[in-house]
Amino acid sequence: MEKNLRQAQKMEAAGSLAGGIAHDFNNILAAMIGYVNLAMHQLEDQGMARRNLDMVVKASLRARNLIKQILAFSRHSEKEPKPLNISPVVKEAVKLVRASMPSSIEIRQDIISDPGNVLGDPGQIHQIVMNLCTNAGHAMGENAGVLTIEVGLRSLNAAEANLKPDLRPGNYVYIIISDTGHGIEEKLKERIFEPYFTTKESHEGTGLGLAVVHGIVKGMGGDISVSSESGKGTSFTILIPSISQEAAKVPTKEKISLGQGERILFVDDEELLVDVATQMLPRLGYRVTGFTSSREALKSFQENPNGFDLVITDYTMPKMIGTQLAREISKLRPEIPILLCTGFNKDDEAEKYKEFGVRAILLKPLYEHELAEVVRQMLDKGNNNG
Ligand SMILES: Nc1ncnc2c1ncn2[C@@H]1O[C@H](COP(=O)(O)OP(=O)(O)OP(=O)(O)O)[C@@H](O)[C@H]1O
Ligand SMILES: [Mg+2]
Repeated sequence: MEKNLRQAQKMEAAGSLAGGIAHDFNNILAAMIGYVNLAMHQLEDQGMARRNLDMVVKASLRARNLIKQILAFSRHSEKEPKPLNISPVVKEAVKLVRASMPSSIEIRQDIISDPGNVLGDPGQIHQIVMNLCTNAGHAMGENAGVLTIEVGLRSLNAAEANLKPDLRPGNYVYIIISDTGHGIEEKLKERIFEPYFTTKESHEGTGLGLAVVHGIVKGMGGDISVSSESGKGTSFTILIPSISQEAAKVPTKEKISLGQGERILFVDDEELLVDVATQMLPRLGYRVTGFTSSREALKSFQENPNGFDLVITDYTMPKMIGTQLAREISKLRPEIPILLCTGFNKDDEAEKYKEFGVRAILLKPLYEHELAEVVRQMLDKGNNNG
């Protein structure tokens, strides 16, 4: 019990630390993504540079997912999981892994194309694979080695399920990732899932990888186990409960919704984010006025309440936070759509924010197409309501 308690306390401490840095990190990421998006448009079709920037966006998506996971440590709620076939996601991740590994490492895949569905988030599955493969790569270093990724369906009978305290008999989708690296010493095995436990130099590892994987797998009602032999290699087995529902259709790439010159008031205390927004929104067909001070934004609104069609505001700001600003603005124009952007997932609390006049909440960092979609929807809804 004492051991469990200590573990819980460590998780708790990691959680509050993580929650604290996640906010700042998210803003940095938001600025980077914004500038990359802008640069990509300015490049139009210059092959390689565009492709490379695409990779930056892809990497930033992973970073965003990691933040979500870090926030999950500090008990902020997550997105609702949907029925998912994990195989295409795993295959996609393996492609990225291949690109980042030395050619001395052979990659073998045994991924059946339809192992059945699980309830999950593709970003999280991607994260599991990336984390485990990165570790495997580190363990093999520059030496020749084999990395094996397997995905399939397996059923556990009562006796097998008994061995895993959290699992019931039934069908499970498995992911097994094995390497021929240096292995894990017996006495370290029980510590590897602890947040911040690492045997690597500080620039090589923070010790979050397996803790994150562990958190995701447990969150899906699954189990992760490890077997390893010093000098021979390591194998991680993940079991995720299989469900019978159809997988949600992966949405096809939608067209970006554009504005018709509607006027947007944009407020964020982070100057870079205002800079990005005042370039990005006009590109999407909107006219935008940006402020880094919520008080100044309010003043400008008070001077000309009919000068705006929509307000986008950050949540955490000095002097006057986003909800206060929203309340003042909606006193003057109760019908104006207000979009609140936050670093924390406030999905569950959306109702609560309605009283401040907030119509929608977006999780930072903002992606251009997400922003375009939400802003368009909010404006259209406002018009329909009269
Ligand atoms: N495939 C593996 N082979 C050998 N050792 C491993 C393997 N996977 C994990 N480990 C050990 O477990 C430790 C914790 O792994 P974890 O992924 O949580 O952190 P990290 O890789 O050190 O840092 P980060 O993932 O945050 O970059 C590693 O430092 C390493 O000692
Ligand atoms: Mg790692």
